[in-house]
Amino acid sequence: MQTVKDYSFQNKTALIRVDLNVPLNKDFQVTDDTRIKATIPTIKKILDDGGKAILMSHLGRPKNEPENKFSLQHIVGDLEKAYGAKVHFSKDTIGEEAESAAQNLKNGEVLLLENVRFHEGETKGDEAFAEALSKLGDVYVNDAFGTAHRAHASTTVVAKFFDDKMAGFVMAAEIENADKVLQKADKPYTAIMGGAKISDKILIIEKLLGKVDNLIIGGGMSYTFFKAMGGKIGNSLVEEDKLDLAKELIQKAKEQGVELKLPIDSIVADNFANDANTKIAQNHAIEDGWMGLDIGPEATAIFQKTVEESKTILWNGLMGVFEMENFAKGTKSIAESVVKATENGAFSLIGGGDSAAAVNSLGYGDKVSYVSTGGGALLEYMEGKELPGVAALKA
Ligand code: 3PG
Ligand code: MG
Repeated sequence: MQTVKDYSFQNKTALIRVDLNVPLNKDFQVTDDTRIKATIPTIKKILDDGGKAILMSHLGRPKNEPENKFSLQHIVGDLEKAYGAKVHFSKDTIGEEAESAAQNLKNGEVLLLENVRFHEGETKGDEAFAEALSKLGDVYVNDAFGTAHRAHASTTVVAKFFDDKMAGFVMAAEIENADKVLQKADKPYTAIMGGAKISDKILIIEKLLGKVDNLIIGGGMSYTFFKAMGGKIGNSLVEEDKLDLAKELIQKAKEQGVELKLPIDSIVADNFANDANTKIAQNHAIEDGWMGLDIGPEATAIFQKTVEESKTILWNGLMGVFEMENFAKGTKSIAESVVKATENGAFSLIGGGDSAAAVNSLGYGDKVSYVSTGGGALLEYMEGKELPGVAALKA
């Protein structure tokens, strides 16, 4: 796969798909700029070469028409700061306005197009929409790893209208780092899976069982395992239709010699609220009226020891309800251990929207080996699926 590294963008107009799907607060301020920062090297390379950069992205999930809350105009100032360059904005992604904005662009400048999902052709992967987009640039760059699992017009279909098409630095780095834990992981190798549902993680868990030494499971999905083993989980989260699957996974882990580490205790609460009453409970004996909202002290200690002894760590999903301060401790402690292990030479990959956001908000983004910008995209890649956005660059 060609990348921007060995290409000269002098006097070229690069049409670049980036993933600027960043969280905004009610005043439309960016609350996590990880994805913006991630795009800087690719954009700088193009501008420093003496080229022009035209950016395409989606923001949120609008319903195929313009909606102010999903407008990319809100982030123009953030991009100017990030790139140290003039960033023009076009209210439409295709047609006259976009084309004349592209024409008027000078070398060293950036043009941001409005949210591509304001056109229904984007998510449909419409050819005519993709072709209209392709008119804006001479060369296509895809740096949107976070959206590479979508076969959309700007992520995939547009590539066929270019002779010169390549991956940006984010795309290349994401794949290189994911491949490290998929193919060349040093042992002991520990995967930490969390979050609410087994159903979201089933494929990756099955894949990982053939690779890892330890599989740590925390978060809401752990209670389904305890219920499957005949435990009492009170009012904790459970996927009733996944009980058999949980049993199968426990069996498969045994067969493959993987240490499956479930949290033996929890911080339980009498209400799903930060100010609920709390106590510590063993996970097979949670009383009715109580629900587990974070891993408990014993589980935390066991998980931390395992992580700190590891040489490769893949982390996806939270250990508890991180957004509530009283249930953030488990996730925070695991993050600290991942940092420690990394300092001791382990390779650590943080994947998934929530875990990446947690690690960044704790200020550990630079203290782990790599924080992925992909949620669903990383999971699909790790499950062994070919990402359409990547395949289109090779076609
Ligand atoms: C993400 O945040 O997961 C990516 O930007 C993709 O967005 P989507 O899930 O709405 O396609
Ligand atoms: Mg998503």
